[in-house]
Amino acid sequence: MKNILVTGGAGFIGSHLCPLLQQNGFNVTILDTLSPQIHGESQETPLWISDSNINFVKGSVTDRDVMKSVLSNADGIVHLAAETGTGQSMYEIEKYNQVNSQATALMLDIITNEQLPIKRVLLASSRSVYGEGAYLADGQGATNRIYPRPRTPEELANHQWTAKDENGNDLVPVPTREDDKVQPASIYASTKYAQEDLIAICCESLGIGYGILRLQNVYGEGQSLNNPYTGILSIFSTRVRMNKHLPIFEDGLETRDFVHVSDVAGAFLAALTKEEAPNTIINVGTGEFTTVIDIASQLTRAFGKEPDIQVTAQYRVGDIRHNCADITRLKDVLNYIPKVSLEEGMKRFVDWVNTQPLPEDKLDKANQELKEKNLMG
Ligand SMILES: NC(=O)c1ccc[n+]([C@@H]2O[C@H](COP(=O)([O-])OP(=O)(O)OC[C@H]3O[C@@H](n4cnc5c(N)ncnc54)[C@H](O)[C@@H]3O)[C@@H](O)[C@H]2O)c1
Repeated sequence: MKNILVTGGAGFIGSHLCPLLQQNGFNVTILDTLSPQIHGESQETPLWISDSNINFVKGSVTDRDVMKSVLSNADGIVHLAAETGTGQSMYEIEKYNQVNSQATALMLDIITNEQLPIKRVLLASSRSVYGEGAYLADGQGATNRIYPRPRTPEELANHQWTAKDENGNDLVPVPTREDDKVQPASIYASTKYAQEDLIAICCESLGIGYGILRLQNVYGEGQSLNNPYTGILSIFSTRVRMNKHLPIFEDGLETRDFVHVSDVAGAFLAALTKEEAPNTIINVGTGEFTTVIDIASQLTRAFGKEPDIQVTAQYRVGDIRHNCADITRLKDVLNYIPKVSLEEGMKRFVDWVNTQPLPEDKLDKANQELKEKNLMG
């Protein structure tokens, strides 16, 4: 396997993965629309691509002719192209399904009907497919895994942030495993789950090796500073630079598993170069819960400033409360152990942000859109 097509490869994860693939001897072709929401209005090919010998095709994964052309030169595919905003997906429903689910179906349709000799397909899926993920009852020795349903708008409006058992006691979140229950709570999550099923079913029927990597909250150098719909650290970094307060949803104790982008690229490389294809789902995270208050404070301090945090008790419909990956499979199947600590990753991220022009702060505009659609309270 030599020729790798990376869809959406001009984006954040692609900007780390594509050079890594090249360094490891692969010929890389990127197919990317250069979505203005991510790349701004300029539409110029990013310098890191034009300065390299990566082959760049500007086009959409939704375009059959373009897809047919790039797929016919590939042995392996890393499918990154997607619309990625959880909140935005709740009102751009058709677009999210077209770019995420339908375009994946198109890719597989072409591979099947053109009988293309693709050897491996890797998908960037998301932790969001788990919805609220796995919990245990808050009792000593509790082992039964419990999967709370997504929180309702009414519960959120009443500030019932955390899932409770039938006696009203808080359940305790635990790292979620790949075989835990899948329960998408947003349109974005449902499209990522659809992608997973399409790829697993089709690749198994065709005998193509595949791997589905469920990425946790990825952060790091190169994350779009223009996109107000996703990437909490990028969004907050702009406000820290402007000396604005950081507004934090719910009570700030919601948690995420923050994994540095270089570890995500490392996991994709491992899944591509492993002799036997994984043919399974693999969580890619650190296995650690970090509260949003903590991450906001660490970020601000990494800029050498004192945190100015306002916990707003606001919320977004479709957000989950806690998230952390069980990474046993990442270690056992891919033999990959995340290398970048949160402290080191944050330093790298802030050093990079400080070299970038100060973007516009579009957070209030993005929140206003959600409020107008009754998706934020
Ligand atoms: N970053 C995260 O925290 C995270 C977490 C879980 C899963 N993921 C998944 O990882 C993948 C990559 O995410 P990212 O963080 O690099 O996002 P990104 O937005 O930086 O990159 C996505 C790229 O896809 C391109 N794209 C969008 N629509 C396209 C289309 N129709 N045709 C071709 N290209 C198109 C964009 O221009 C962009 O360059 C996505 O599938 C996302 O769902 C990311």
